Amino acid sequence: MIKINENFLKLQDSYLFSTIAKKVSEFQKENPDAKIIKLGIGDVTRPLAKSVITAMQKAVEEMGNGETFRGYGPEQGYEFLREKIVEVDYQKRGVDISPNEIFISDGAKCDCGNIVDIFGINNKVAITDPVYPVYLDTNVMSGRTGNYNSETGKYDKMIYMPATAENNFIPAFPAEVPDMIYLCYPNNPTGTTLSKEELAKWVQYAKEHSSIILFDAAYEAFITEEDVPHSIYEIEGAKEVAIEFRSFSKTAGFTGLRCAYMVVPKELVGYTENGQEISLHSLWNRRHGTKFNGVSYPIQRAAEAVYSEEGQKEIKENIEYYLENAKTIKNGLKEAGFTVFGGVNSPYVWLKVPDGMTSWEFFDKLLKEANVVGTPGVGFGPSGEGYFRLTGFGTKENTAEAVERIKKLWK
Ligand code: MLT
Repeated sequence: MIKINENFLKLQDSYLFSTIAKKVSEFQKENPDAKIIKLGIGDVTRPLAKSVITAMQKAVEEMGNGETFRGYGPEQGYEFLREKIVEVDYQKRGVDISPNEIFISDGAKCDCGNIVDIFGINNKVAITDPVYPVYLDTNVMSGRTGNYNSETGKYDKMIYMPATAENNFIPAFPAEVPDMIYLCYPNNPTGTTLSKEELAKWVQYAKEHSSIILFDAAYEAFITEEDVPHSIYEIEGAKEVAIEFRSFSKTAGFTGLRCAYMVVPKELVGYTENGQEISLHSLWNRRHGTKFNGVSYPIQRAAEAVYSEEGQKEIKENIEYYLENAKTIKNGLKEAGFTVFGGVNSPYVWLKVPDGMTSWEFFDKLLKEANVVGTPGVGFGPSGEGYFRLTGFGTKENTAEAVERIKKLWK
């Protein structure tokens, strides 16, 4: 008789964004005339940069020509892309990363989820609360979290590190020492950041406890302030304790193309039960080569074009567009009397839900009375209760319209 992985039965509901999509689609069916504005999932709306399209077209032509056709590429990614990443994303910031520490993939969501394969099942895992749900759910699936406690909204064995207005969204070191620490900065969902000094404390902490930091920098391109690190490797010693996740999704509008990368430094080690040191780079290389056959050639050429002079200019324009939307949301909501966070180094605006409502009550009110979709804070974890996330990834017109509708509702 076939047995299932019973850890899956410990998962709560469906994946957050699927639950929201279902609710919205039911509402639209019942109200076909409602002009719904979606500022929920962080999905981009600007078309791809011209240089990206041109590079992709050229690569597609090459694939249709016997002389230039390519079959399987290197699983780790083409050298031309890994070298550009190193040069522009790291060397230009004074960070020493080598191309063979870069692993190209089809998304940071997959990378964050897949990385758990190389870590022991008994590791203690810490997440900030609220958090991007993938870190938690993939650890539930692989059996590291224990059971769900419906009273606390937490899993027994997980370590939750609250990041709320009370601690200025700077999580404190947990009472129990974790082995795996997920950090995402600029943060999804709160849109807040850590300064270099704050991040350096985490690097030091991980060193002292031989823990690993899984650093998600998917929103790095939205940083506008000086003291905010773009990469954890800007902190001295971080190559000994951190894996970094980067994505072209938000940076260059690749949510529909799919391309991302992970940095696994050669210095990183983990330990066997009897204390033997093992290179995490070699483990990940083995895992990646076994379960993944590489991102398609045209997509990697498209990603390479992001690093051209023209590409950099074009993606910057799109990022500024989204940041402008975030500003519109932030300022508009402030005027309406809301308490708002984020939105300066991030496309996400995190707001306090008014009048003692819950996050989901606010979601329903906004959907039904303003026809605006956002993401309830509690969907990101128990400390997200009483908060709500809106994204700057909509169009300028829709964003302005959504803000007007919300303002009207709270007049
Ligand atoms: C979000 O809305 O949090 C993100 O778009 C989800 C993702 O990147 O997978």
